[in-house]
Amino acid sequence: MYAVDAAILMNAKVWEATGHVANFADPLDGKKFNTMLKTQVGAGKEAAISYLRPETAQGMFVNFKNTVDAFHPKLPFGMAQIGKAFRNEIAPRDFLFRQREFEQMEIEYFIRPEDWERYFEYWRGEMMEWMQEVGLDINKVHELEVLDADRAHYSKRTIDFEFEFPFGKKELFGLAYRTDFDLNTHKLEYVDEEKGEKMVPHVIEPSMGVDRAVLALLLSVYTEDGAGEEVREYLKLKPNIAPVICAVSPLLKNKPELVEYANSRVYTPLKMEFGRVAWDDNGNIGKRYRRQDEIGTPFCIVVDFDTLTDNAVTVRDRDNGAQERVKVEDLKNYIKERI
Ligand code: GAP
Repeated sequence: MYAVDAAILMNAKVWEATGHVANFADPLDGKKFNTMLKTQVGAGKEAAISYLRPETAQGMFVNFKNTVDAFHPKLPFGMAQIGKAFRNEIAPRDFLFRQREFEQMEIEYFIRPEDWERYFEYWRGEMMEWMQEVGLDINKVHELEVLDADRAHYSKRTIDFEFEFPFGKKELFGLAYRTDFDLNTHKLEYVDEEKGEKMVPHVIEPSMGVDRAVLALLLSVYTEDGAGEEVREYLKLKPNIAPVICAVSPLLKNKPELVEYANSRVYTPLKMEFGRVAWDDNGNIGKRYRRQDEIGTPFCIVVDFDTLTDNAVTVRDRDNGAQERVKVEDLKNYIKERI
């Protein structure tokens, strides 16, 4: 898999060749409204129309030859890109769901045509596994086989992964068999050294929106327990995705011996090991726990007066509030085992 960071502004010919200039449109008043964001590059007579890319995919196809010439990859191989895409959506709405500027993560996976069903199934499984891995509520994910009439012109088979958002069941990600449409469009080919022939690889494309993934994730992990005034709100983020894995606190911030111990013997070594570690000494312990709960920090570690003699700290679990006494020397492993 080759990672690519292609240009957002490309020659308009790219978008003419792919059919985006002619077809990338939504219906508006019985007419077609092209949703590519048009801009002008260059000045005066040299000025030309260009477009902010409406998908990251084409940046990979136009870098196909560079990749093949530089690395001589054997089939199957993939190109992958995460980056901004822009669409002049007629009706942006529903928070992160439909925006005019959003982030995509796409893979173009190049295969021999006879293998397409096998790799379609492979990527279908990988996408589901990824959703589980980051912690999406898999019960709210549904596959939709997109009908012939509704598929994009380049696709021979598409599955939409839909998610039960509060505003309805809507597309989360897509998986498409793009055939050899794009490489043909750009007049690109590949020499299959194993078979000793020139050919045009076919493409399986997992296409995912980062923003929709984040929205679906927040909806999956937002949790409340307790009742009335006592309601506790927290994000049940898996440790592998939580922005902060653990927060370290001295019980009292005006006791230098606690602060010194917490900083040098707990916070600093954990920070060096995991990176995503916070220092939190603001307000009382209850408030610190609530604050960390709200951003989904799985573990809060408190250094108290006993720590100074027994070299152990209190580790509090976000989900059930359980507190455990853990030796400072065992902390790294304690967290590693739970990530
Ligand atoms: N290369 C194929 C392609 O771009 P798409 O279904 O048009 O396919 C792929 O877009 C993904 O990008 C969608 O499944 C969705 O996750 C995300 N996406 C598309 N339009 C979006 C928008 N306006 N705001 C946020 N995410 C969007």
